[in-house]
Amino acid sequence: MLMNDNKIVLAYSGGLDTSIILRWLIDCGNEVVAYVADVGQDDDFDEIATKAEACGASKVYVEDLKDEFVNNYVYKAIQANAIYEGQYLLGTAVARPIIALRHVEIAKREGAKILCHGATGKGNDQARFELAYMKLMPDATIYSPWKDPVFLSEFKGRTDMIDYADKHNIPIPVSLKKPFSIDENMLHTSYEAGVLEDPSKRYDISMFKKGTHPFNAPNTPEYIKITFENGKPSKVVNLDNGHAVKGPTDIFNYLCNLGLKHGIGIVDMVENRLMGMKSRGVYVTPGGTILYNAHRDLESITLDKEVQYYKKIMEVEIGKLIYNGLWFSPEFEFLMKAIDHSQKSVNGDVEMVLYKGNASAISRSSSSSLYDGAVASMDEEGGYDQTDAKGFIKIFGIRLKAGSKK
Ligand code: ARG
Repeated sequence: MLMNDNKIVLAYSGGLDTSIILRWLIDCGNEVVAYVADVGQDDDFDEIATKAEACGASKVYVEDLKDEFVNNYVYKAIQANAIYEGQYLLGTAVARPIIALRHVEIAKREGAKILCHGATGKGNDQARFELAYMKLMPDATIYSPWKDPVFLSEFKGRTDMIDYADKHNIPIPVSLKKPFSIDENMLHTSYEAGVLEDPSKRYDISMFKKGTHPFNAPNTPEYIKITFENGKPSKVVNLDNGHAVKGPTDIFNYLCNLGLKHGIGIVDMVENRLMGMKSRGVYVTPGGTILYNAHRDLESITLDKEVQYYKKIMEVEIGKLIYNGLWFSPEFEFLMKAIDHSQKSVNGDVEMVLYKGNASAISRSSSSSLYDGAVASMDEEGGYDQTDAKGFIKIFGIRLKAGSKK
């Protein structure tokens, strides 16, 4: 689909791919508005905006989405204990919906009907963007150059892109020389491609852009206390020095820094992509891992046994929906209503120790605690008549006896 004379809003990262897409769309006779989403990646946004203008964008939006990202996306995922295939805390997947949402808002403001993104045709991100656009702006036309035969015939490989960039004075970023595909935001940094494409190969820890590996983490543990209100962190106190942090974004940044210092949240895994292929990734989710562990621990005393059980089942499904790009879907909305409801009792404090890659809960307390010390105790009767257990087990095991007689 080669377009001309259209107004297009392009999700622009400042990297080589989206710079080429931007320039190419203009060459095809279109007007392009560049939209840059700041979700906490370590970038120079002024530089990116200047680059977009230099590539010919008619207007550049740099949108600071950090507070909204933490509050309405990261913390919701934590409340749900959302996780994919048992390990991945969904750092990239949780950021895509908010990026797409603002993209649509800008298109509407600009009166543009075409939304363009630079995600490839092999990954999950294309689905996450496009499914969100479909829900939020059903009348939009989605243009995905990496799925357009015309674009593909012009850019068959890296060399074509570099030649094109040279011809149009598009600076080739140093990151091109880096052998990894990195996606970064406040929640995580992901590493894919390069040596990681062979799952039997180890990576070198020099791959990490920031933070410490547990090998080099401090030899002294650090103790913190996290207070939760309705399943969201409302305060963190460093128990070693008394430093207190409040406010959603400040708390999150503080935990990220502590996590990076102690080498927390590194996962090396092979996952199943939505498109079916397996893919190896290394994820660093420092603050998210601390919060996830603390939150799950607090739920152990604040959630009813059966609510906990059904929530656990939903968590797996929610993780899958987020991974598969279905944040804006009726089923996600439906499940998250139940999560919201469950979080009403998730209030209290969790003390955590951070030490060489681990973030472990060491104490928990809550005014809504369901833990009954007297009933659980080995030392006292606590209003629990042990002889009652006889009848309970007798009835509970009726079917086992019946089955054994056959
Ligand atoms: N495999 C992860 C996911 O699908 C990370 C993707 C990273 N994205 C990227 N454009 N480098 O969520």
